[in-house]
Amino acid sequence: MNRIEAIYSFINLQDKVVDVGCDQAKLSLLLSKRNQSSIACDISINVINRAKENINSQLIDLRVSNGLSNVKKGEANTLVLSGMGTYTILDILNNTNLRFNKIITISNNYHDTLRKKMNELNYKVSEELIIKENNKYYNLILFTEGNKSYSEDELLLGTNHKDKEMYIEYLKYLLEKYNKIKESSKNKNEKIDKMINLINKKLK
Ligand SMILES: C[S@@+](CC[C@H](N)C(=O)[O-])C[C@H]1O[C@@H](n2cnc3c(N)ncnc32)[C@H](O)[C@@H]1O
Repeated sequence: MNRIEAIYSFINLQDKVVDVGCDQAKLSLLLSKRNQSSIACDISINVINRAKENINSQLIDLRVSNGLSNVKKGEANTLVLSGMGTYTILDILNNTNLRFNKIITISNNYHDTLRKKMNELNYKVSEELIIKENNKYYNLILFTEGNKSYSEDELLLGTNHKDKEMYIEYLKYLLEKYNKIKESSKNKNEKIDKMINLINKKLK
């Protein structure tokens, strides 16, 4: 399962989807194959024009939009934010009054900050999924409305993973990565030591 298929697997037929940062609108294309309409937005006019040249479906509403600025209340209840950094994702959510039943993110970085700040926006982690695409790991997080108190390891390493085997593979990859950083750095790094301890505990 690639990233787009993974996002698709979290979407139900009745969900009203907006994909912000859609690029080639691959998710909307997949949804249209099962007759589901969606809004696909991107900040770049060139990206949207290119998608319009390649896509000919009444079910896909392609729009230029900085975040959710061009999306109106009631048009969507499911938001997809994939292939962006945590701070872009948070910026988009901090700049809208719209609320969603579901937010599906695949952030490139700072997943702990994402979990923590989303909680402050009253979105809690419902499920997570680690995806491996072209030998790279991606962390999908499904947020739903509400808040939760997280332990430190839940904030740093996630919670409620759908594919446990893939999660363990990912933890082993992280452990190797942090051990290499530790070996190559001369100074003691408390954050790296903490991550190594937390991952070792999880893997026990
Ligand atoms: C790396 S692509 C990700 C494409 C697709 N969502 C995926 O996961 O494969 C990131 C896209 O986000 C768009 N983007 C970045 N910031 C944005 C913003 N504030 N609002 C809307 N789109 C944005 C970029 O133009 C780019 O097309």
